[in-house]
Amino acid sequence: MTKITAAITAVGKYIPEFVLSNKILESMVDTNDEWIVSRTGISERRILKEEGKGTSFMAIKAAEDLLSKSKLDPQEIELIIVASATPDMQAASTAAYVASEIGAKNAFAFDMDSACSSFLFGMSVVSSYIESGKYKKILLIGADKNSSMIDYSNRATCIIFGDGAGAVLFEANKEGLGIQDELLRTDGSGREFLKVKKGGSSFPFKKGEVFGEEDSFVHQEGKTVFKNAVFNMADVCEKILGRNNLTKDKISWLAAHQANKRIIDATAQRVGLEDSKVMMNIHKYGNTTSATLPLLLADYESKLKKGDTIIFAAFGGGFSWGSIYYKWAYN
Ligand code: UT7
Repeated sequence: MTKITAAITAVGKYIPEFVLSNKILESMVDTNDEWIVSRTGISERRILKEEGKGTSFMAIKAAEDLLSKSKLDPQEIELIIVASATPDMQAASTAAYVASEIGAKNAFAFDMDSACSSFLFGMSVVSSYIESGKYKKILLIGADKNSSMIDYSNRATCIIFGDGAGAVLFEANKEGLGIQDELLRTDGSGREFLKVKKGGSSFPFKKGEVFGEEDSFVHQEGKTVFKNAVFNMADVCEKILGRNNLTKDKISWLAAHQANKRIIDATAQRVGLEDSKVMMNIHKYGNTTSATLPLLLADYESKLKKGDTIIFAAFGGGFSWGSIYYKWAYN
C-alpha cells in the first residue's frame, strides 16, 4: 500500500499595518538601532494596534489570504488548528471562532500552545492525523499578538517581539512528499526563564489584587534562553540530518524560528549551510512566536520548488524545541 504523508499545498499570511521601527523604539526606551540590529538582526516589527482585535483577527486574515490564493472551498476543510501563545481569551477556543468566521462549516477546531514551538509541534499533530488516513485537509495557522503581553518600557523584551499570522493547508500526499521525520523535545525546568506569570491557573487574577508589572508581561532571561536555543536547535538539526543520511548538499533550505538572527546563524553554521539556503525575515517582523515558520513559507513560497528539502527548527518557552525534515510538494 502507498504510504500517505502530510504535505503543504497552500500558504497565506497576514501582518498588521503598523510598523514599529527601531527608530520609534529609540524614543520609547534606552536603546538604539545599532544595538538592536547587531544583537538580534531586527529592524522593524508589526503591531496590531486596533482596540478589541486579538489573535483571531490576524488568523482569519491569513486563512482568507490562503483561501483566495488557492480557491479552496472552506467547507472542504476537516480540521483547523490555531497554534498560538496568545489566544483571544483564556477560556474560549480561538480556533473555533476562526473556523466559523471563514465559513469552515464542516471542520472542528482547537488551539495548541507550546510557545515558540507551537507551529512546529502543530505540524507533528497534523502529520499524525493525515498519515493515519483520518483526515485529508487540515488548516494549521500560527498566529500571535505578542504586543498584548509586552511591557513597552522594558527594553529587554519590547525590541524583540512582533505580531503576525501565517496559515498553511496540509493535504494527504501519495508521492512521498511533505513531512518525512521529526525530532521534538521539551524540558520543563526551563519555564522560569521565559514566561508570563499572571492570569494562568497558578497565579490567577484575584478580585482587588494588583499584580506587579514584572508579573504581568513577558519575562525573559535572555542569555539563558539564548544559550539553550543555540545548543538545542542545532543539536536536533544535526541529529535529524544524521539519521536521514542528509549531507548539507542535500538540503535546500533551513526554515528556523525567527527569534534572533545570531541563533539562526549559529544553527546554520553547525549544519554547514550557506546564507543563501537560510530563510530569513526576522529583520521585518521580529519574533512573531507561532507565526514565524508559516510567515517564512509565505515569504519564500515563490522560490520553493517541488522536491526541495527543508529542515524546520524551533526553540521556545517551556523549554520546547525540535526539528522536522520536510520535502516541498509543489512549484
Ligand atoms: O523565541 C523564544 C526564544 N527567545 C529567544 O530565543 C531569545 C534569546 N535571547 C536573545 O535573543 C538575547 O539574549 C537578547 C536579544 C534578548 C539580548 O541580547 P544579549 O546579547 O543576550 O544581551 P544581554 O541581555 O546580555 O545584554 C548585554 C548588554 C547589557 O548591558 P551591560 O550589562 O553589558 O552594560 C544590557 O543592559 O546590553 C544591554 N541591553 C541593551 N542595550 C541597548 C539589553 N537590552 C538592550 C537594548 N538596547 N534593548
